[in-house]
Amino acid sequence: MKIGIPLETAPGETRVASIPEVVKKLIGKGFEVEVEAGAGVRAGYPDADYTAAGAQLTDRAGAFDVDLLLKVRRPDVADVEALRPGGLYIGLLESCGEDEILSAMLAKGVRVLGMERMPRTSRAQSMDALSSQSNIAGYRATLEAAARYGRFLPMMMTSAGSAKPARLVVLGVGVAGLQAIATARRLGADVYAYDVRPETQEQIRSLGAKPIELDLGESGSGEGGYAKELSEEAKAKQQAALSDQLAKAHVIITTALIPCRPAPVLVTEDVVKRMRPGSVIVDLAAANGGNCPLTVAGEIVERHGVTIVGLTNFPALVPADASAFYARNLANLIEIMFTPSESGPVLNDLAEDDITAAMLVKSST
Ligand SMILES: NC(=O)c1ccc[n+]([C@@H]2O[C@H](COP(=O)([O-])OP(=O)(O)OC[C@H]3O[C@@H](n4cnc5c(N)ncnc54)[C@H](O)[C@@H]3O)[C@@H](O)[C@H]2O)c1
Repeated sequence: MKIGIPLETAPGETRVASIPEVVKKLIGKGFEVEVEAGAGVRAGYPDADYTAAGAQLTDRAGAFDVDLLLKVRRPDVADVEALRPGGLYIGLLESCGEDEILSAMLAKGVRVLGMERMPRTSRAQSMDALSSQSNIAGYRATLEAAARYGRFLPMMMTSAGSAKPARLVVLGVGVAGLQAIATARRLGADVYAYDVRPETQEQIRSLGAKPIELDLGESGSGEGGYAKELSEEAKAKQQAALSDQLAKAHVIITTALIPCRPAPVLVTEDVVKRMRPGSVIVDLAAANGGNCPLTVAGEIVERHGVTIVGLTNFPALVPADASAFYARNLANLIEIMFTPSESGPVLNDLAEDDITAAMLVKSST
């Protein structure tokens, strides 16, 4: 059973789907691993470390001509052409439904497992790449905000005078939001946080931050620990009720999203106008339309004197750890997909396991 690890070619991508430590473990379980030359270099994993781990270095065609292709980012047309018909593909598909690329893969008989379709259950936790990458995004987004803010985050008392701590608000207290709160607290900011799910208030307090409590007249808690979309009336109430809290903030890190829905608008243009010049907004929902309508996906812009960061790939700015976490998520998934045998790992029935069944992309045609 041959596994392929290609170089990621999406613009700005620095991560790699597996790292030498994980490759060594896969080889120990009877897999052969083909790594495209240079695949790990931008993440800090040189070719020599993969060969020392027992992998074969190959060219791009060799990395794709395998039984199981491991990828971080969505494939492009050339990738799909290079895939082995009937093979297995695991990666972040960056898509909520079937699209042209996925249809082309399915037409080739490739079995596609989408990492973002991983159920958020306790058994799947060690394989949950959305969580591992969002954790990194929450951390890195906070550092980005701190670096772009022209003042201190912590209180500073010096012989040249003192500075008050920055007032930092986190919107959306899921994986990225919790890590943003923890990182901002470590940096000494005065942190406030809001989520539509009331159960997050205890988590906010446990990290030393203050929950912002709003009465929207309806609960935002949905199934499986996710939020549910609010009614139009509650959305309007939410924007109005948050506006005074947000206008007072010096830094806002916003992460509110319901999977496969457009991001809710929480930071209106009016709020941005009211913020102190030099304030910073980092909008982690930028790729899904943003929690602020002034956000430009992939860019850092200044509007009404406020810096708005719409970068869409924070994990790629922490490539060594982001790749290591992703590689371990994949290895834990591979562990439940195969049964060891004398002649090497044997693929289980993917429809039989609730995790792989949920991840498997089925043709809608
Ligand atoms: N820019 C990047 O580099 C990057 C990287 C990773 C994740 N992300 C993005 O960060 C966001 C958060 O990811 P996550 O894994 O933490 O998701 P998550 O599902 O764990 O958290 C999202 C949170 O938003 C809350 N929410 C939903 N609607 C809300 C509303 N109207 N008001 C307040 N809160 C609301 C949910 O209750 C949930 O707690 C997503 O948009 C994700 O795509 C961005």
